[in-house]
Amino acid sequence: MATQPFATTESEAVPLAVWACAQTTARWQRAGRYVPESTRHPGKMLPELARRILLAYSKPGDIVVDPMCGIGTTLVEAATLDRRCIGVELEERWVAITRANLGHALPARQRRLADVRPGDARSLASVLKGFRGRIDLILMSPPYACAAGVIDKRAWLRGRRLCDVSTLNYSTDPDNVGHARGAHYHAAMAAVYAQCFALLRPGALLVTVTKNMRHRGRLIDLASITIELAGGAGFGYLQHNIALHAGVRHRALVSRPSFWQLNQTERARRSGLPLHLIAHEDVLAFRKAVDVHE
Ligand SMILES: C[S@@+](CC[C@H](N)C(=O)[O-])C[C@H]1O[C@@H](n2cnc3c(N)ncnc32)[C@H](O)[C@@H]1O
Repeated sequence: MATQPFATTESEAVPLAVWACAQTTARWQRAGRYVPESTRHPGKMLPELARRILLAYSKPGDIVVDPMCGIGTTLVEAATLDRRCIGVELEERWVAITRANLGHALPARQRRLADVRPGDARSLASVLKGFRGRIDLILMSPPYACAAGVIDKRAWLRGRRLCDVSTLNYSTDPDNVGHARGAHYHAAMAAVYAQCFALLRPGALLVTVTKNMRHRGRLIDLASITIELAGGAGFGYLQHNIALHAGVRHRALVSRPSFWQLNQTERARRSGLPLHLIAHEDVLAFRKAVDVHE
């Protein structure tokens, strides 16, 4: 059974930091390094944020895994920083774009550090057979537990759908965790975090990037859900960083909301609900205890 010396009680504080990661836009951060097809993915991590996490929580030579790697942001940034890295992704479509990004962004020596495999994160230990107990860092952004899709503003202004359906929830495959809500989401991600626990070496870290979203005005507190699920898998909650999705200009925040976010917030305010724009993501660091007995 796993011991949890890092587990916190409500009265214990977890260190909190604020990171500015969007002084330039996401598009600018990817320009020239990521293939243009990357824009088809509806939930990418900011490259600047991935770099910051890798620098804070790993060192050159470490083995980094992203079990739900999308278009491969973690891998591109990890190999650039001389970490060995392996990505797993359910959808062939995103695996192909990850491969293209690795080929495009990395010189031959660093390209050899990175690998991507099609597979299900709920069976991560089988997909990455031979790596059990050897991984130094798992960095991932899980699906949001609510709808995600690439917004087509022009189509919407012409009275058509807001989201390109081919990008909705990452795939039309109902088995993709992007479709899971409520208890289904909890069960799927509990399985993923248990697999992450098995792969990490004792003392190593799981770092998640989540965004709290609204569904019909209600906040889905994915950060809290993730803390609960990771704790259930045996991890200790080590640190919470707020990654600003806003530029800091002359002591003010310049938010970078999507058209969808702006539209939702304006509509809510018009109907008397005093909502604000969500201008951050939560970066949660969890640790597998050193003296763990599996
Ligand atoms: C929020 S995105 C991650 C994006 C990634 N961090 C990037 O920068 O591109 C979540 C990803 O999880 C993938 N996914 C969903 N269910 C999965 C599963 N069971 N196994 C592996 N990947 C899965 C989705 O297809 C999607 O690409």
